[in-house]
Amino acid sequence: MTVLSSALDVGSPDYRANREAMLARLAELEAEHAKALAGGGQKYVERHRGRGKLLARERIELLLDPDTPFLELSPLAAWGSASPEYTVGASLVTGIGVVEGVECLITANDPTVRGGASNPWSLKKALRANDIALANRLPCISLVESGGADLPSQKEIFIPGGAIFRDLTRLSAAGIPTIAVVFGNSTAGGAYVPGMSDHVIMVKERAKVFLGGPPLVKMATGEESDDESLGGAEMHARVSGLADHYAVDEQDALRQARRVVARLNHRKTYADPGPADPPEYDQEELLGIVPGDLKVPFDPREVIARIVDASDFDEFKPLYGTSLCTGWATLHGYPLGVLANAQGVLFSEESQKAAQFIQLANQRDIPLLFLHNTTGYMVGREYEQGGIVKHGAMMINAVSNSRVPHLSVLMGASYGAGHYGMCGRAYDPRFLFAWPSAKSAVMGPQQLAGVLSIVARQSAAAKGQPYDEDADAALRAMVEQQIESESLPMFLSGRLYDDGVIDPRDTRTVLGLCLSAIHTAPYEGARGGFGVFRM
Ligand code: COA
Repeated sequence: MTVLSSALDVGSPDYRANREAMLARLAELEAEHAKALAGGGQKYVERHRGRGKLLARERIELLLDPDTPFLELSPLAAWGSASPEYTVGASLVTGIGVVEGVECLITANDPTVRGGASNPWSLKKALRANDIALANRLPCISLVESGGADLPSQKEIFIPGGAIFRDLTRLSAAGIPTIAVVFGNSTAGGAYVPGMSDHVIMVKERAKVFLGGPPLVKMATGEESDDESLGGAEMHARVSGLADHYAVDEQDALRQARRVVARLNHRKTYADPGPADPPEYDQEELLGIVPGDLKVPFDPREVIARIVDASDFDEFKPLYGTSLCTGWATLHGYPLGVLANAQGVLFSEESQKAAQFIQLANQRDIPLLFLHNTTGYMVGREYEQGGIVKHGAMMINAVSNSRVPHLSVLMGASYGAGHYGMCGRAYDPRFLFAWPSAKSAVMGPQQLAGVLSIVARQSAAAKGQPYDEDADAALRAMVEQQIESESLPMFLSGRLYDDGVIDPRDTRTVLGLCLSAIHTAPYEGARGGFGVFRM
């Protein structure tokens, strides 16, 4: 065994300061998660309960196998949205949970938020959930009760929103089961959620599934009608045939959904690897590793030692390109190649080492984990002349064309093209999570403000104009503040640039759940098929 040693001194002032800083950020995060849990607020929650209905998360809880975890995704969606400001969580709950022993992708409208209507962030979140279901072959269960499109923002969602229904039938075509459980309103476009699903369950006297309600029908054809005859559960179960299962109440609907899943015959491609040894070091200590000031480097092996099985890690090329740590481990029994930034900057050696390592993982069919703490690729004459562009491009080529599943965790900095090379969001990692300590942007706020200032100064000089130093200082301060706030994980999570901000102590569990979900679908590494590597 090659067990990592640890130099972390939990009694040191640095450790304590890092821990305090992380705990303060976690408290902020919890306050934002609480907003998502509160949904539309007390008034709407009480009204909903008064109607004898369960909340979105209660529905999910009853659907899942008892005492199994639910990996909620994108709980901060819509965070930081302004004019209009949408509720944190975007009126939709999504995540992965186990139903009758089968890992499923579950979505549930939150009817306490504007009638469960979908806004642009709900749409992004729903599409992300569909992508996850498709990539990992997870059956999709939609718990439906929604006012359809959020009408004031229809211009942002009507046209792209068609993808929701397209995805449902593409999932079905790929052999991935889709199940709709209708608890309430599911009208107009929303009617296509049950309409496009493989299995449909509707709740008596609650489900309303029609293209047009009574007022619209009256306007269109003059016909007098009512909700029940146009789209009630009984009508759909007995007359139209849209409902496969008629449920007497919400609990019954969830019970029937579980029975449908039990009969899906949905099999995972890879067997569960069984119990694995926990890390040798306490995961609690993950709180004190990342410094509050990201300019201070930290050793990612301290993180690896606390997330992989038995802290057992075989490092690859430990003496070469030392600013990137690469090596092999298992996590909850699943084999894993790890790439972790060690000193922040990526040089030519690190880039080539990464490209080689990624190819090895592809040859061996081993998923990759990217642990981010990078300020990007090295700049300067020496490095440009040494070919940093082509070497960085090599790494990005390898990441882009790699075909093994990728996981990314932003622990600290994730700046510039370093974010790309380390499998940032645009490089389609199967899952990407951020720690509350993470920051991501095209570059650091001070550097960005400084670059803008130099450009403005040169522009003024070229025009022969005097340069206003006071205005420059004010602009720099403003830009720095803006970039800082836009680099923070809650802001980025609000825009769906990650799948959630997690407590560092949960990293092993979250990655284990992701790896288990990933191993539902078959994968094979790229044996060739990379682009032209510039040498
Ligand atoms: N867009 C924007 N806001 C919506 C909305 C929508 N599609 N649906 C509901 N809301 C808002 C309501 O205006 C209301 O806001 P308020 O409390 O500030 O007045 C809030 O959400 C709750 O709606 P309410 O009608 O009081 O809730 P309900 O539970 O009694 O009924 C619906 C929910 C969805 C059945 C009902 O609101 C409805 O029929 N909405 C329109 C559905 C529709 O035709 N959508 C277009 C589909 S493409």
